[in-house]
Amino acid sequence: MINGKILVVSLTIFSVVCFLAEDLCLGGMDKDGWKASPELVAKLTQRRSETNYDEQKVPEYTLPDPLLMSDGTKVTNAQAWKARRRPEVLELFRTYVYGRSPIGRPKDMTFKVFDLERRALGGLATRKQVAVSFTGRQDGPGMDILIYLPNDRKKPIPTFVILNFGGNHTIHSDPAIKLSGSWMRPGSGIVNNRAAADSRGKASLRFPVEEILKRGYGLATIYYGDIDPDFHDGFKNGVHPAFDKLQEGKRASDAWGSICTWAWGLSRAMDYFETDIEIDHNRVIVLGHSRLGKTALWAGARDERFAIVISNDSGCGGAALSRRKFGETVGRINTSFPHWFCENFRKYNGKEDDLPVDQHMLIALIAPRPVYVTSADEDLWADPKGEFLACKHADPVYRLLDGKGLGADWMPGLDRPIKTSAIGYHVRSGRHSLTEYDWRQFMDFADMHFLTSSQGRN
Ligand code: GCU
Repeated sequence: MINGKILVVSLTIFSVVCFLAEDLCLGGMDKDGWKASPELVAKLTQRRSETNYDEQKVPEYTLPDPLLMSDGTKVTNAQAWKARRRPEVLELFRTYVYGRSPIGRPKDMTFKVFDLERRALGGLATRKQVAVSFTGRQDGPGMDILIYLPNDRKKPIPTFVILNFGGNHTIHSDPAIKLSGSWMRPGSGIVNNRAAADSRGKASLRFPVEEILKRGYGLATIYYGDIDPDFHDGFKNGVHPAFDKLQEGKRASDAWGSICTWAWGLSRAMDYFETDIEIDHNRVIVLGHSRLGKTALWAGARDERFAIVISNDSGCGGAALSRRKFGETVGRINTSFPHWFCENFRKYNGKEDDLPVDQHMLIALIAPRPVYVTSADEDLWADPKGEFLACKHADPVYRLLDGKGLGADWMPGLDRPIKTSAIGYHVRSGRHSLTEYDWRQFMDFADMHFLTSSQGRN
């Protein structure tokens, strides 16, 4: 009897200790974690009454199981994921969401280093500018890659690659950066004159170049409009005329949308990195903000050469779960930006539950490579909770492949990054933007993964 009592008491103490330990293991995370400010929810709801910003109004939904094959077979080992399920999921995203791009490296593509400065930024960096011609023809489509590599590190250098919104010259005031980013929106009379010299360095707050270099990373950036200008013209500009194969004069319903073309451009930059012995092409981190965060995820999902993938405030069609219909929805995004996704995606306007995928499966495609997703407190349009949940539901695939997933069950508090596992996540104070705070977490995350990788850091 006494023994029985002792047993009950011991078991109770044991469960309390386990409960506390569980909380400790989760980094002291509050189970409630981050929540949207009610004032902000009220304000945004008033401004956009057709948009749901209220957690209580998120519909019930069931996510597709990333580990369940279309034929009903359960994936139970890494081999089956790699050989069968991963290709299947990739194909679903190609067919129904982003569209299909040309396969592999274009056979006539050329690279020309037109600028090489060993003493750039006061001697801190080597600067290179590379003209990429996708077809090898002077009058064909192409892009310029601007690269800074730290001088005080042993080469090859692990490097961040990021598309920019305004032209390479906007990321830093370095006067030697070639002006880019001029295209015109036909009919609207709006000229994107960001190319003007006065926009040099205008986006520098989003690109802490010196800090990146001092931490031992290189930075490569490309103006996204070089690959495909960001407006809908029936796919006549950018890389489309050179690569699109029409069927009886028409585009296929799974032909690539702009996000896919931008992601394809990132893979072409990777083709260049593989030829540059100063860049460590095994340690390239692909990163993007907002629509370019969606792009970074798709680039990293389709091209396994990217070692780490980072999505900053990517929202709908990026890291956020579509089925939550919180903030921007599939119907909204396909209406506002009809050129971003493939035509098939429109079939799911208002019918998110019919989609054969959801965005947790996009993150799962990156496994077992490290992935980092961010949200911003005031960016409810991008659905911070939906972005976290996509990470959480990608976790089973990570665990199947390498035993380390997100390492968290609940959303962390504001400004409390989860960055010690294979899936990193944070929700930062403030608005939709890419900040120095975000960059610091990314570099910590990369440090951690590269240090622990067999190659180590220099
Ligand atoms: C719009 C769009 C988002 C996108 C963002 C951006 O807000 O609705 O989906 O992420 O633009 O790219 O800045």
